[in-house]
Amino acid sequence: MHIRKSTGVLDWLDQRIALNKLMKVLVSEYWIPKNINFLWAMGVILTTLFALLIFTGFMLVMYYKPDINLAFDSVNLTIMKEVEYGWLWRHIHAVAASVVFLIIYIHTFTAIYYGSYKKGREMIWVSGMLLFILFSAEAFSGYMLPWGQMSYWAAMVITNLFGGIPVIGDAVVEWIRGDYAVSDPTLTRFFMLHVCLLPIVLIAVVAIHFYTLRVPHVNNETGEEIDFEVEAEKYLSGDTKNAKVIPFWPGFLAKDFMYIGFFMIFFFYLVCFHFNFAMDPINFEPGNPLKTPPHIYPEWYFLWQYEILRGFFFDIFGFKAYNIGLIAFAIAGVALFFMPLYDRSDVVAPAHERKGFFVWFWLLVVDMIVLTIFGKLPADGVTLGISNSWIGFYSTITFFVLLFVVLPIITTLEKKGAVK
Ligand code: HEM
Repeated sequence: MHIRKSTGVLDWLDQRIALNKLMKVLVSEYWIPKNINFLWAMGVILTTLFALLIFTGFMLVMYYKPDINLAFDSVNLTIMKEVEYGWLWRHIHAVAASVVFLIIYIHTFTAIYYGSYKKGREMIWVSGMLLFILFSAEAFSGYMLPWGQMSYWAAMVITNLFGGIPVIGDAVVEWIRGDYAVSDPTLTRFFMLHVCLLPIVLIAVVAIHFYTLRVPHVNNETGEEIDFEVEAEKYLSGDTKNAKVIPFWPGFLAKDFMYIGFFMIFFFYLVCFHFNFAMDPINFEPGNPLKTPPHIYPEWYFLWQYEILRGFFFDIFGFKAYNIGLIAFAIAGVALFFMPLYDRSDVVAPAHERKGFFVWFWLLVVDMIVLTIFGKLPADGVTLGISNSWIGFYSTITFFVLLFVVLPIITTLEKKGAVK
């Protein structure tokens, strides 16, 4: 290694840690297609929201007390009323936790719409789904921390689900809770998961998700197969107009900053004027094991899966409704992981250019919205003359049929050229 007198701080660093090479690999020579739209900004918006969640989480953890006798007041009194601007950090954290799921769903459905999960991009998809599962665990463990009525009863219902595992179910429930009932050890271990273990794993998986983009590069609006090396050559030789790619920085990120700016206006509007949508009124009552709330439901982003859990409300061929619901719930949780397997066609194009797939896509979206709406309604209610339970049942069946039956059939036909 030859060290010469440096011309400045950057040159000094470059000689020691190859800063220029690193910046080339990560940003200035990392190529992004030109023909993409605002939906490709969702990944960077998610990264921003994740950073915001971590930062506001650090602020909250300075006053939060993970003890069932102190937790509720440490949030509702100390943070919300006593600490200066504590309410603001809490509202930013709670609204970001809710909005992050909205953006995750848009990001995921964008990937489905444009077929960005196949032909070399399978690992991007799989690491993305892993992020979805981890974010769900992070949100659930965080929801427990204020130890309000919904925190307590959601913990009760969700930990109880593990009791459905054959033979070892009861032991697993006790192991997860650290006690026979949801109690202090349960709160402290979920606190550990929320502020320590899960964030570390999440950061690692976000890094893996970025890495998986490296070789296949991001997809584009038309699904065109771009030769990134040839196009990068064009760009570097000065023919930036005809090159089909731009560098990650400044080209792509500069535009993303604009989208982040628009998004932040919307985000802080919610934080300042509509923060209540991210806070359940029942959770402003301290957790009480002796008083079950009349109607227990999860946050909006878990409702579709919760409705699948409730979808089977009658026994079938001697199998208990509860167990069937539980299996359906577990399968739904991981079903989208295998999207690249159900889609038998290797056509990478936007859904509006694939007629069968286009219809399938919107049916799935509508079905998940119906599941979400009915997940919030009481199961014994009636809508348009039909019982909510039956609507839940049919929407659940539709979800599985669309994914496991209809998609393989239409994509096989597409492959054979029978449908466009
Ligand atoms: C919160 C966690 C996540 C972060 C921070 C994140 C971040 C990103 C970023 C920065 C990109 C590149 C730009 C873009 O297309 O937006 C990207 C692409 C992608 N992500 Fe995520 N993502 C997350 C979750 C997910 C989830 C849940 C999925 C669904 C399975 C997913 C699937 C994909 C796919 C398939 C692409 C490639 C898109 C393409 O090729 O056009 N990601 N992600």
